[in-house]
Amino acid sequence: MKASISLSAALSLGSWVGGAHAYWRMTCGIAQIGRIDPIINPDEVSGHVHLLSGASNINTSSTYDSLNAAACTTCTIQKDKSAYWTPLLYYERADGTFVDVHNDGTVVYYLGRGEDSANIIPFPPGFRMLSGNPSKRSYDNTTMTYGNDTYPSRPVADRTSFVCVNYNNETPETPGIENTDCPDGLRAQIQFQSCWDGVNLYLPDQSHVAYLSQIDNGVCPPTHPYLFPHLFYEVYYSVATIDTSDGGRFVFSQGDTTGYGFHGDFLNGWDIDVLTAGIEQCVNDDTTGQISLCPPLNDSQDNYASTNCPQQPTLVDEQVTGVLSKLPGCNEVTSGPADEPQGICATEPGLNDVPDTDGETTVTPIVGESTVTLASGGVAEYEGCYVEATNARALSGASYTNSTGMSSTACGAFCQSKGFTVFGMEYSQECYCGNAITTATASQSDCAMVCSGNRTEWCGGSDRLSVWNITSPGNATSTTPGGSSSTGSTAPTATPSAAGATYMGCYSDNVGGRALTSYIGSDGMTWEMCAQNAQSLNRKYFGIEYAQECWTGNTLASSSAILADSTCSMACKGDATEMCGGNNALTLFQNTQFVQPTIPALVNVTNTTATSTNTTQLTQYAYVGCYTEGSSGRTIGTPVGVNTPSYSFTNTTGMTVELCAQTCSTKGFAWVGVEYAQECYCNNLGAVNGGALASGGDGDCSMVCKGNIGEYCGGSSRVGVYHLQT
Ligand SMILES: *[C@@H]1O[C@H](CO)[C@@H](O)[C@H](O)[C@H]1NC(C)=O
Ligand SMILES: *[C@@H]1O[C@H](CO)[C@@H](O)[C@H](O)[C@H]1NC(C)=O
Ligand SMILES: *[C@@H]1O[C@H](CO)[C@@H](O)[C@H](O)[C@H]1NC(C)=O
Ligand SMILES: *[C@@H]1O[C@H](CO)[C@@H](O)[C@H](O)[C@H]1NC(C)=O
Ligand SMILES: *[C@@H]1O[C@H](CO)[C@@H](O)[C@H](O)[C@H]1NC(C)=O
Ligand SMILES: *[C@@H]1O[C@H](CO)[C@@H](O)[C@H](O)[C@H]1NC(C)=O
Ligand SMILES: *[C@@H]1O[C@H](CO)[C@@H](O)[C@H](O)[C@H]1NC(C)=O
Ligand SMILES: *[C@@H]1O[C@H](CO)[C@@H](O)[C@H](O)[C@H]1NC(C)=O
Ligand SMILES: *[C@@H]1O[C@H](CO)[C@@H](O)[C@H](O)[C@H]1NC(C)=O
Ligand SMILES: *[C@@H]1O[C@H](CO)[C@@H](O)[C@H](O)[C@H]1NC(C)=O
Ligand SMILES: *[C@@H]1O[C@H](CO)[C@@H](O)[C@H](O)[C@H]1NC(C)=O
Ligand SMILES: *[C@@H]1O[C@H](CO)[C@@H](O)[C@H](O)[C@H]1NC(C)=O
Repeated sequence: MKASISLSAALSLGSWVGGAHAYWRMTCGIAQIGRIDPIINPDEVSGHVHLLSGASNINTSSTYDSLNAAACTTCTIQKDKSAYWTPLLYYERADGTFVDVHNDGTVVYYLGRGEDSANIIPFPPGFRMLSGNPSKRSYDNTTMTYGNDTYPSRPVADRTSFVCVNYNNETPETPGIENTDCPDGLRAQIQFQSCWDGVNLYLPDQSHVAYLSQIDNGVCPPTHPYLFPHLFYEVYYSVATIDTSDGGRFVFSQGDTTGYGFHGDFLNGWDIDVLTAGIEQCVNDDTTGQISLCPPLNDSQDNYASTNCPQQPTLVDEQVTGVLSKLPGCNEVTSGPADEPQGICATEPGLNDVPDTDGETTVTPIVGESTVTLASGGVAEYEGCYVEATNARALSGASYTNSTGMSSTACGAFCQSKGFTVFGMEYSQECYCGNAITTATASQSDCAMVCSGNRTEWCGGSDRLSVWNITSPGNATSTTPGGSSSTGSTAPTATPSAAGATYMGCYSDNVGGRALTSYIGSDGMTWEMCAQNAQSLNRKYFGIEYAQECWTGNTLASSSAILADSTCSMACKGDATEMCGGNNALTLFQNTQFVQPTIPALVNVTNTTATSTNTTQLTQYAYVGCYTEGSSGRTIGTPVGVNTPSYSFTNTTGMTVELCAQTCSTKGFAWVGVEYAQECYCNNLGAVNGGALASGGDGDCSMVCKGNIGEYCGGSSRVGVYHLQT
């Protein structure tokens, strides 16, 4: 018998050994989220919400043939139009509402497993199966896989597993959810039956298939002698993005808080020839999982699959993501140990009429031949796939982004309206205008991203532009033919405005230094986006420059002077109707929501150690000064070799001076230090380890507390120190 390395153990190590455990692995974006399950509930709304990956047209009545008609799949291998689904994870807040937990889709593995792996056969057309049991709420150690004296069996419950991912502290996998405090995600995993009876494409009790004796290895039972590739799914849930401070709990869509009811479904949609070739050439060879090393699979690999085949419009007419008052369907939240049958609703929502994109394919245009007709009646000719410039834009005139509506006619009309004759689309959703293009041409296959607004057209790629030339203007009434405006677009005329802000005018920048100090850039920049950035950072001033740069600060440099409004005439990257500054010119606003932060001089705390008969005794900590961080340890810490307690903690969202002082007080400490907006230190010795008053004074302690925009909590390597008043 060959050594059996646990699949999941190997995965959590992130490495694979030897050809004996060969496989391929593909990432599959989200195709649909909803109560859809064409295996268990064909032609009706399913009992609970699923995360579905694979063919773009997955719906309640999907079959092998209907999947094959899909325009695309969210999986990288386009010749695999299969459907893969699992229940969606939610978070139930303490107030009883639910919110879905972010994930990016499913990772699907095809593994060469089992003693008989040399004889793996492809899944036949029409084949489907379910692994796992949605009703389970506890670990069942009595239902075993097939086994005999040579090949031991294993509880089938081991088919589901979870890994609480923490890159700094590897944790073992568990069959149920045991820990959701996972800084790098909670990985839900399901293994499938690899053994088939050779007759039935499906039986509702799943008896057409059986698990390998060790689930991820071993032998098939004599009743199920045919071996398939070993299917395995992973879904990474970003549990760390959920604020769990309210003491809520994670729950799968069927009401399962334990994870023992996690399950997975597979509806085969493969091009059988490609699957057969993949199995023959790659499932037993060590390709380290890479599709590009497996020729039959590489041939239809689309590295842009998740953009080119985006999540589809909702089929079932109900809200299933965002904040919900209950789990969709009729699912009580339960934690076992008893099984919980699927809740049934008296009435169910109807189905939406979703656009049919079946059979749509992207047409590759021919350089110098293919044309499109613009709304103006003008005609544009295809110039080719071009490389984006490195330090500027290859087409540096006007531009805009539309993540749902980009197409050659949309971009062409925009650039024509701005007086340009050449336009290019990039990264499926960006449009750039100019009058000539001088960068190198790229291979046509580099322009492989489908336009966000027209599935039949290509819109460039990563750093690649699909370039068109307007050769006949039609009836376009361009007053500035050739785009003569030096700022690259006609100036929008609306007066700048944003919620919670007052427009100050167009101000000069970079006159001997920056007018404002900190900066973010975005291709989606608008007045509102910059205002929100300034408000979340509690900055007094903000301004937008050069179409896409949002600058913020609490003081405006005295060298910055007001300019003519016409100097700020660049269209915002995110909204061509708004002006976003110019070259060294800021469209400047004052944030009216700004709160001037201060260093609190005295902090009141509740003295929990005071005698219970006099709980009103006032305990206060007074500000001592802004200290440097220690050179041989923390300033408010324990010196090396000294046996005296100290304490520290970080709160990246809620730190305030009050929270820090209260925590130190409760733990009986007399000295308190706040640092870096989010850190708290306590000791009984005051400043140690070389920490001393900072030469910059209180000005050095000017980082706004993460939990209170009105307060400062130290600085970078600067500690705001407080001492208990007696
Ligand atoms: C499901 O998708 C197939 C293929 O696109 C389509 O023919 C069928 O009408 C759809 N059914 C439903 C219920 O939407
Ligand atoms: C199954 O679990 C129960 C409860 O933990 C235990 O008493 C029993 O011995 C276990 N049975 C096997 C076969 O491991
Ligand atoms: C165990 O099962 C395998 C697969 O069915 C079979 O080949 C083998 O002969 C069996 N061994 C024993 C000892 O029954
Ligand atoms: C995979 O396909 C790409 C694109 O067709 C090609 O450039 C690459 O050479 C292929 N890789 C292998 C290993 O054949
Ligand atoms: C421009 O031409 C288009 C199509 O040729 C036509 O629909 C449109 O009405 C014309 N617009 C003007 C302003 O002439
Ligand atoms: C994107 O394009 C679509 C289709 O033309 C349009 O309805 C939508 O308003 C556009 N979105 C933005 C943000 O401009
Ligand atoms: C999509 O693009 C194709 C090719 O340019 C064009 O024929 C078709 O009319 C466009 N579809 C829409 C809805 O604009
Ligand atoms: C666009 O077409 C014109 C002729 O109509 C030609 O003179 C010009 O060079 C072309 N521009 C590009 C960028 O190919
Ligand atoms: C702290 O307590 C004193 C005395 O009761 C009171 O005057 C003061 O307003 C309190 N400070 C804060 C910030 O609550
Ligand atoms: C709490 O109050 C007691 C008196 O009841 C006092 O001795 C002690 O120093 C106080 N502790 C703190 C941390 O304020
Ligand atoms: C409670 O504490 C206050 C302030 O220290 C003190 O004046 C008062 O006498 C105390 N009351 C009792 C009942 O100990
Ligand atoms: C951070 O502080 C906030 C506000 O006090 C609190 O609600 C939250 O639970 C804290 N978070 C952590 C991780 O301690």
